[in-house]
Amino acid sequence: MEISYWQSRWRKDNTGWHMDKVYPPLANLWPQLPIKSGAKVFVPLCGKSLDLRWFVERGHQVTGVDASQKALQDVINYTNQSFTKDSSHGFTIYRSELLELWQGDFLKLPVNKITQPDVIYDKASIVALPPEMRGSYAQKILSLCDRNTHIILQTFEYDQNEMNGPPFSVDEKELKQHFGHYFEFTLMHEQSKLEELSKFQQRGLSSYLTEKVYHLNPFDRD
Ligand SMILES: C[S@@+](CC[C@H](N)C(=O)[O-])C[C@H]1O[C@@H](n2cnc3c(N)ncnc32)[C@H](O)[C@@H]1O
Repeated sequence: MEISYWQSRWRKDNTGWHMDKVYPPLANLWPQLPIKSGAKVFVPLCGKSLDLRWFVERGHQVTGVDASQKALQDVINYTNQSFTKDSSHGFTIYRSELLELWQGDFLKLPVNKITQPDVIYDKASIVALPPEMRGSYAQKILSLCDRNTHIILQTFEYDQNEMNGPPFSVDEKELKQHFGHYFEFTLMHEQSKLEELSKFQQRGLSSYLTEKVYHLNPFDRD
């Protein structure tokens, strides 16, 4: 999925994945995680998700990355804070007190310029990418992690023969190929998404659509 594909969707306001509310399971999931107050949260492929503001409101230092200037401008508008603007390594960077937004290709992110995250929050991110890009995406995610970084990862599972992504179906077997060497997996949330199933029916989906959220807990590597 080229960046131009996503930019075209943003230009046309074709952003069906966007929620006009915080991701519903988040409020229940977050307190169950071993996450300290003030933890640094990294949000890859963040779009204009309202979850960014939810993290900031809880005192977290948040970094989001998206290719779309339009998406990040919307985030800047809804947070109602003042931002500085900078550029580095082909990215435009917007900074406010607790929120940093990097506009550019996540796969080219200069990892040494990013504050090491305590938590990486992937919602509708890995599932946005086709199979041939997911290995590079996972490598980039891993390059941001140290031995204490937790990952929250949301996926969809459905019969990929019935419909083309995005969103793509990404199952636990594949996730373990990418992340299983470093993290223990806990399935925190699982829900059949019948209303979304009807939304995707025109695209051929008919059997099932399941949403899952995993907690990837770093193995003790001492
Ligand atoms: C399905 S949307 C999900 C957005 C957000 N996570 C949410 O839940 O609302 C995928 C997002 O990834 C962004 N994106 C896709 N490929 C990217 C890349 N290589 N680098 C940065 N952003 C990318 C798109 O612009 C889009 O906003």
